[in-house]
Amino acid sequence: MRAILISVLAATFADLVCADVWWESATIYQIYPRSFKDSDGDGIGDLNGITEKLPYLKDTGVDAIWLSPIYSSPMYDFGYDITNYKEISSEYGTMEDFDNLMKEAKNLGIRVVLDYVPNHTSNESDWFVKSANRESGYEDYYIWADGKLSPNDSNQLLPPNNWVSIFRKSAWQYHPIRQQFYLHQFVIGQPDLNYRNTRVQEEMKDVLHFWLDKGVSGFRVDAVNIMYEVDPSKHDGKYPDEPPSGTPGTTPDDYEYLDHIYTKNMEETYDVVYDWRDLLDEYIARHNESKVMMTECYADLSDMIRYYGNGVRNGSVPFNFLYLEGLKKESNAEDFKMVIDNWMNNMPAGKTANWVNGNHDQSRVGTRHGVKRIDALNMLALMLPGISLTYQGEEIGMTDGSISWTDTKDPQACNTDDPTNYWMKSRDPARTPYQWDGSKHAGFSNSSGDTWLPVADNYETVNLAAQINVVKSHYTFYKDVVAIKKSPAVRRGNMDIRAPSKDILVVTRQLSGNPGFASIINLSDQQQRVNLSAVGLSDRLRVAASGVDCTLEKGAQVTKDNIAVSPHCAIVLTTTAQNANNGCLTPKFFMKPLFMYFSVFLYRYFYIRY
Ligand code: GLC
Ligand code: MG
Repeated sequence: MRAILISVLAATFADLVCADVWWESATIYQIYPRSFKDSDGDGIGDLNGITEKLPYLKDTGVDAIWLSPIYSSPMYDFGYDITNYKEISSEYGTMEDFDNLMKEAKNLGIRVVLDYVPNHTSNESDWFVKSANRESGYEDYYIWADGKLSPNDSNQLLPPNNWVSIFRKSAWQYHPIRQQFYLHQFVIGQPDLNYRNTRVQEEMKDVLHFWLDKGVSGFRVDAVNIMYEVDPSKHDGKYPDEPPSGTPGTTPDDYEYLDHIYTKNMEETYDVVYDWRDLLDEYIARHNESKVMMTECYADLSDMIRYYGNGVRNGSVPFNFLYLEGLKKESNAEDFKMVIDNWMNNMPAGKTANWVNGNHDQSRVGTRHGVKRIDALNMLALMLPGISLTYQGEEIGMTDGSISWTDTKDPQACNTDDPTNYWMKSRDPARTPYQWDGSKHAGFSNSSGDTWLPVADNYETVNLAAQINVVKSHYTFYKDVVAIKKSPAVRRGNMDIRAPSKDILVVTRQLSGNPGFASIINLSDQQQRVNLSAVGLSDRLRVAASGVDCTLEKGAQVTKDNIAVSPHCAIVLTTTAQNANNGCLTPKFFMKPLFMYFSVFLYRYFYIRY
């Protein structure tokens, strides 16, 4: 009897020790709620639309969805201007809809990650109204400063300094009630919170608790590196001007005109992030899962990397924007390798890498890299170690929509005041509705009018319905590689990356006792012969996933020293070994001794009684 008990406990223990921190090798799918699926015909995506499509995401194999903001908002920056962090936007649904989404996601085993926007609220939020009225306790919730008298006109009040909004023009807005200026690093409707006020810090922690208590699995943290501004008490109580950057072609209205030494990457930021990590870790025992935190920070590698932690304290997973921004249409295999190595070699030991192919602020892969590289980039993000981020629609190879000046909604584009060049700043093209099928509004909405942004022109050919049950499609390939990502070698194995020529990139993943995988990309428009002799693996390999431009089909066998890879082909090969156990003891494993224990118990019970 004791032996059985010990075996049960040992199995349970082994299972716990082996249990993955789920996000360390997760596929996280970003949903931009406004453009994913409209369930009520108003031309705007919503929560019930997302819930309706959860089975699709389950089938695709994603581990988690990250929802761009769903909170109440006047939508000047489409949800990134929040009036109440604990309320759902009426355009997107109700709290009941959210609870229902959570329930369905839990049933399907999809985790939900929310967007957390700590830098600013909406100027319509209660906090801001109270602060503008100098209500007791709220006076210092935001960054307020006195204006400067104009040297030329004593009736004119100028902003406190030269700071510029990321969306152009002064970052200061005069508030007539308070008779001071407030700082907004984005639109006028997005006043910056004051993190030097501990009450603000507590309020924002409370927001994290609110959603964690609802069962979410973590957060994506918005614009984290602009959370702090310089400490005015060290500058005679003033916010000093920022020096010009010398960037050619910029005017004082442009963000790039200044060197942001007082509004960005302040030292204090990191401790706040580490505090949030501690808060999230309180839930490990409570929810029996580790919560993910990913931070958005466009900065130098050295500043970015510090979000991981400082050796003593843990932090977040900083989005790998070097990957997103470092790779271009012209990049060759050596460039790819360099950009990937750069992250892997600079990330602190034991941390989780991540691969960002796109988001709602960036041009889509098919447009940025050209449609011929869609499979290559999708595959790479999935085959490299760590977290793979997929922006909605990338799995079907959507490209940027073309949005006229009149249809333009993005405040960053509108603020250019330039009907000719606005598109260079516009984020609308990547935010066009998801292309579900070839019907009206691409199946996104059954609105009788327009959708909030027009659907991209190519929806009749590029859509999910046209790809879902097809042997060769971006979607089928994506789904196959997502499944491969779940195998032990890709989750936890070694990574070897090499560029045998400027055209060929090979990423190999191996874990002893398990099938290994080699993914090959041919970036050129010529067939290339690839010799994998140097990477280990078995002599015979089988095609496990085949991109739309590959002539080698899934299931085909190849010899590793001479593989003919067709132009623009992205392909995954595997050793033909049988699927081995992943090395972890699964719940099934300890169910067996448990069952035996109860059998013995029942036997003895009945034996003794009768
Ligand atoms: C982040 C978001 C972007 C938003 C900005 C302000 O960069 O990704 O969409 O406009 O923050 O919240
Ligand atoms: Mg709707």
